[in-house]
Formats: sequence, structure tokens, C-alpha cells
Amino acid sequence: MSKHIVDVRTTSRAYEVHVGCGILNEVGPLVRATAGGTAVAVVCDSNVAPLYATRVLDSLRGAGYCASLITFAAGEENKRFSTLESILEGLADAELSRDDVVVAVGGGVTGDMAGLAAALYLRGIKVAQVPTSLLAMVDSSVGGKTAVDLQAGKNLAGAFLQPCVVVADVECLHTLEQELFADSCGEVIKHGVLADPELFEELVSNPLTSSARTDEQVAHVVAKNVAIKRDVVNADETERGLRQTLNLGHTLGHAIEAASNYQLGHGSSVAAGLCCVARAAEKLGWSEAGIARHIERVCEAHGLPTDTQLPHETIMRYATHDKKRHGGTVNLVVPIRIGKVEIRTVTLDELEKVVRIGCGTQGDNR
Ligand code: GLY
Repeated sequence: MSKHIVDVRTTSRAYEVHVGCGILNEVGPLVRATAGGTAVAVVCDSNVAPLYATRVLDSLRGAGYCASLITFAAGEENKRFSTLESILEGLADAELSRDDVVVAVGGGVTGDMAGLAAALYLRGIKVAQVPTSLLAMVDSSVGGKTAVDLQAGKNLAGAFLQPCVVVADVECLHTLEQELFADSCGEVIKHGVLADPELFEELVSNPLTSSARTDEQVAHVVAKNVAIKRDVVNADETERGLRQTLNLGHTLGHAIEAASNYQLGHGSSVAAGLCCVARAAEKLGWSEAGIARHIERVCEAHGLPTDTQLPHETIMRYATHDKKRHGGTVNLVVPIRIGKVEIRTVTLDELEKVVRIGCGTQGDNR
């Protein structure tokens, strides 16, 4: 299978995203070529370390690095300052210098925390991202956002640090639980709606959750997603404008996710949020007729929710606490047609109307 290489060129750094099958052994040579240094610390959670740490460490040692492993207990509940502190102490114990490198191997929690540790350690060293979940491959490993959670909400303390290289080996997805794989498809569908009608139609005719999917198809879809995100972060690295469009489905999605106490997955929440905003946008005459049903169908084909039965007041309470709120308004990303979105600055009254029209329309929550 051929490898895909997507070039990212943000204001702060240019780097490559390598997407292929069985390419974990390329991590060492790629980190060597893009970051240099003499020592690396591989950061993994307790689920991923037994699966992939040895292969990555061997590859890094084969490329001449002195490589050590730092692990932490898996789970979003551990995406906290206390875990970040133990990772930072691990970097100091491994005696990493300013020229050395952190290699994040795992899902979004690992990439975000290892990235933030790299941004802070010695006031900033390099990081390489090796995503092993679909969500991390198509979203969090690219674009340089790093963070930990606060009591007040997810990802509220962080920094931007673009990686020196990203290596996405789709073979790692063989060990990902089917439920988590399906959940991540919410972000994949979002990217199609956002910028790529061709990707969207591919997902309609060949859902990624089909048991007939091949590594080749997955790698192709991951590379397309990375290219979509690349185009956005190249234009707006720090989310002053265009990057906000990546929040499509997230204003209501985050609210649904938080109100479920994070029992509903992120991608599933985004899918539900996306369908809700699409239904409202269509009814309000903001978008093309038929768009909501089109999006609902592809979500259904991936086993994702298309609505929520949460009370409207609950959705509003969480949506208005979102960190993306600006005083009395919210920048709502609205799908106009497949492949085109618009950022609308709406008042809280208008947002309430969107929630009333778009959410709970398939139950008795009208
Ligand atoms: N996940 C959205 C972003 O990276 O901006």
C-alpha cells in the first residue's frame, strides 16, 4: 500500500503528516530527519504502552536515540495538571535537553498532554505525534493544539505547539474498540460537510464502519481529513477566524457531551450537534433544502446519533458556558451546503431558537 504524505505549513512551523499501514518502524528515521537531538521520551498511556511502545522505542533506538518511556494511567479523567506534572518530572529524570524530543504515542489525551509537556519543558522542546486512534489521526494530532482539562471544563489550559512530524499508522486502528472507531466517524463526517463533498459522498456509499473496510480505504480517508484540517490551520493557526469552522457541530455537540457527563462520546456528540444545527439552519432558511436529511443519513449509516432528547434548557445552559462564547454572542458554524459552511455570530436568544428548532425534533421535546 502506498503511503500518503500531507504537507502542513503553518506560520510557526512546516511539517509532514505520514499516513500509511505498518509504518510505526519509520518513526525513528522520521524524528531523526525532522527534529535531530540525542534523547527522546516516548509518552504513552497504560493501554497503548503494551501494544506499541516497544516498536516505537526500537525504531527510535535504531535511529541512534537514547530513548526512554513515560507512561500514565489511561482515561480522560487523568488529563489533569497532576498527570502533566508527572510527565514533566519524567522528562527531567530522562535528562532531556533543549535539543531533544517528546514522542506522543496514543490517542487525543496522550497527544494533548505530551504536547503540552513539550511546550512547557525548558520553555519548549520539540514534539512528534504518533496518533493511534482514529480521532487523533483525523483531528487532534494535526494543528498544534495541546491542553489539559480544568474542573471548569475540557481543554481549558493549553498552548499551541506544532509537531515536527506526525506518523499515522492505520494498522494501529486494528486494536481500537469498534465503538471508539465508530464514535470518531463523527469528526470525519464533520470534515466532509465542512469542506469536501467528494469525501462526504464516499462516506455515503462506503461507510467507514462497514466490516468490509480496508486499511487502504481508511488511510485514504485519514489523509483526506488531514488535508482538510491542513488547509484550515495553514490559513489560521491560532483560531482567530477560519479555524473556528472546525467547530462545526461543536457548540451543541459540546453541550450534549458535557450534559451526558461525558458518557456520550465526543464524535457521537458532534454528530448529534451537527444534525441539530443543520435541521435548524434549514428551517431558518440559512442553508440549502435537504441538507439536514443528507447529513442525518450518513450519521445513521455510521451508527451515530442524529438528535438528543436532553431538555432545551439543559442544552442552553451548557452551550452558553462554552469557552467559545464571546460576551452575549456565540460564533455558530452553520452548514450551508455539503462542502460549505458559514460562521454566524448569534445572540443567546437566536441560539435558543436554534436549539428549539433543531434539537429533540424526533421525540416529544418540541
Ligand atoms: N479540533 C479543532 C481544532 O483543532 O481546531
